[in-house]
Amino acid sequence: MMLSDLPQTDIDIFSEDTMRDPAPVWAEIRELGSVVFLSRWDTWIVTRYDEVREVLTDWQTFTSAKGTVFSDEMSAMLGETPLTTDPPLHDTLRGVLSEKLAPRALRKLNAPIVDRADELIAEAVAAGSFEGMESLCKRLPVDIVADLIGLPVEGREILLPGAEAFFTTFGPYDDRLLALMPSIEEFVAYMGRVTSRDVLAPGSWGTAILDAVDAGVIGEEHAIPLMSAYLIAGMDTTVHSLGFYLTNLAENPAAWAALKKDPTLIGSGFEETLRLGTPVQLSYRVTTRQVELGGHTIPEGKRILLCNAAANRDPRHYDDPDTFDIHRNPVDHLTLGYGTHGCAGQGLARLEARALITALLERVDSIELTGPVERQSHVPGFAGIRRLPLSLTTA
Ligand code: HEM
Repeated sequence: MMLSDLPQTDIDIFSEDTMRDPAPVWAEIRELGSVVFLSRWDTWIVTRYDEVREVLTDWQTFTSAKGTVFSDEMSAMLGETPLTTDPPLHDTLRGVLSEKLAPRALRKLNAPIVDRADELIAEAVAAGSFEGMESLCKRLPVDIVADLIGLPVEGREILLPGAEAFFTTFGPYDDRLLALMPSIEEFVAYMGRVTSRDVLAPGSWGTAILDAVDAGVIGEEHAIPLMSAYLIAGMDTTVHSLGFYLTNLAENPAAWAALKKDPTLIGSGFEETLRLGTPVQLSYRVTTRQVELGGHTIPEGKRILLCNAAANRDPRHYDDPDTFDIHRNPVDHLTLGYGTHGCAGQGLARLEARALITALLERVDSIELTGPVERQSHVPGFAGIRRLPLSLTTA
């Protein structure tokens, strides 16, 4: 099939309007076809569930080694990490921390995460009304991932703004990104300072990375990118997933009542939250050969955008896809990727969510919004919550 037969649109997927409310835009593009050419950005986007999953399954045809961000400029600048490489190097890099994130290791992490979540909820209950992102959702993942990596407490205030700036590198190389370059450089300099045995806590993920360098498993040049990758990937994503979960519960009293009655629904509620919220809305791959996808031909060497967010609301795959249904348990959503690059930290993210919601159910009778929820709109291809005014009441 020729390009002229391919559905096309001039919708600007990176405009401020799209970023503020992406779901209707993804729905419009998804109904144009399984693969759509975005003339505004001279690129292909895949939005339907089956085709997004097909791409994620086939790393040989859709490589991550030629850029997993939108721009060539940033692709050339990012170091080698599990996200930006194909097997076998991918497997070596991912293998460095795979035991630390395996179920056995996660079981040991559970108790401190539960304690920290309970402390935060107790503080929030005492406050009564508060801003949920600052008081709860940002604090839990940042504390936990920074502790696991072994970072000193001092200086952690740079982590979240740095990670947020870094996520902007996934989008177009434009003024928005250039304005954030100083924050990105500051974050890179910080990572350079802390990647040292003198600074990192013994037995931490950070020292495991340095051990792998010393053992010759990975090169010295991999240490900082690898540590940064886990740090960046483990904060904002989880922060906003927790924000979406609290929002869904505050906006859906019936879901809250169902959870209070049956806390075994916590996991199902989190999967449904991940499906609907999809913090990482877009992933990127490059074709290694000419390929047929959804009946369309994509030439070799082209960057394609995978819209995980659109796939997660594809009515061909999920009934009533825009509704939050706490009973749905959609474990096949694509929010955590799929296949070779499926999220390495998903077990940890689930532990954090479970700990926070369990503490909430134990300590709180009702959760309510005290003002409008502000959706995050400034990071291209990323969705989240900026302000979440909440009140918690106990009996
Ligand atoms: C709910 C929270 C999270 C979400 C929504 C999320 C999302 C994702 C997605 C979509 C991918 C695949 C990207 C692609 O295929 O291009 C991914 C990969 C990854 N995630 Fe997560 N993530 C979360 C939490 C975490 C945590 C807590 C960590 C670590 C502490 C982490 C570490 C990673 C790493 C290292 C990769 C690269 C895996 C690879 O390429 O083999 N993530 N994540």
